Amino acid sequence: MLGPTSSPSVPPSNQKNKAVAALVAGFVLLVALAGIQNSPTSSLVPPVVPRIDPNMMPLVTGEESIQELFVRAGCTVCHQIPGIAGANGKVGPPLWLGKTGPSRLTDPQYRGQAQTVREYIVESIVSPGTYVVPGFPPDTMPTWYGRKLSAGALNKIASYLEQVMGESPPEAR
Ligand code: HEC
Repeated sequence: MLGPTSSPSVPPSNQKNKAVAALVAGFVLLVALAGIQNSPTSSLVPPVVPRIDPNMMPLVTGEESIQELFVRAGCTVCHQIPGIAGANGKVGPPLWLGKTGPSRLTDPQYRGQAQTVREYIVESIVSPGTYVVPGFPPDTMPTWYGRKLSAGALNKIASYLEQVMGESPPEAR
């Protein structure tokens, strides 16, 4: 009479509750996923960022003219550099470091080691992640320049850029 089949035991109803809970959870997850898929951010087309293959880039020695140096290194693809023909990239900030450099060093967000604008320029090239210029994309500037630019090339770049005070090229040298 009181066999296991006739008595409404607790475990089955518990299992039923669990099944309902699992169904609800699954439904909530589905709705959430659908929401993510339809959210406006996922439909944005990612910005086209030029990629430079380090294996295709020759070592820049610093013997080159400043024009050739910037072009060879690919800086012109992403940056506007006054006085350098063809340097009108818009991916990164215009390289007017004589003008903008001092404010980078005093930015409370700046955590790098540089004490001077010149050091800041070199640091930005060999370690771009140290400080990301506000309003520009992180992880975009190549991280391998330290291996491809000789010390002489870095020096030449820094002395050029620290003299750029705005849209016009530095005084002819
Ligand atoms: C693929 C694009 C790309 C290339 C190539 C590139 N950069 Fe950049 N660069 C950026 C972006 C984006 C930023 C801003 C974000 C950041 O600070 O990392 C930046 C930031 C900088 C800064 C800091 C500028 C400032 O106003 O504080 C300097 C200096 C710089 N780049 C120099 C160079 C030099 C020199 C080269 C070539 C040897 C070069 N970059 C090549 C994308 C690029």
